[in-house]
Amino acid sequence: MGKILKIKKYPDKILREGSRAVEKIAETETKLFEDMFSTMRNSSGIGLAAPQVGINQKLIVADIDGQLLKLANPEVIKAEGKDKMEEGCLSVPGVLVNIERAYEVVVKGLNENGELVEIKARGLLARILLHEIDHLNGKLIIDYMNFFKKVRFKICGRNK
Ligand code: NI
Repeated sequence: MGKILKIKKYPDKILREGSRAVEKIAETETKLFEDMFSTMRNSSGIGLAAPQVGINQKLIVADIDGQLLKLANPEVIKAEGKDKMEEGCLSVPGVLVNIERAYEVVVKGLNENGELVEIKARGLLARILLHEIDHLNGKLIIDYMNFFKKVRFKICGRNK
């Protein structure tokens, strides 16, 4: 079991910073993967990116249908199809945004053993991967809101 870390919430600036690639998967990264996993589970999340716990490094975790995923330096090498769905984010509580994303992706990166892997994903898992990769680029779900929803969000605050 890893530690439960504090989840950074919008408008924390760290969520807007780009993340650095990791050079290798060493003890620090393995530990951080574990902590991110515990933190995600503790909040009943299905995905989490390192900037959400205040660390601007390219590390993401996901957990859907018992499929656990730890990936460093994830990069989309193929994206196909379109799919629209409402998404939430642990860093932007109380907000759901309808977002169109690719339906099928191939993402390459390093797994927890430091091996280069390619992950084929579709549907929800593809969506999670794209959402978490957005975090590594400082992008949040609110950036996908249309103009009127954005204005309402800015005026009324995130919990209304
Ligand atoms: Ni998120």
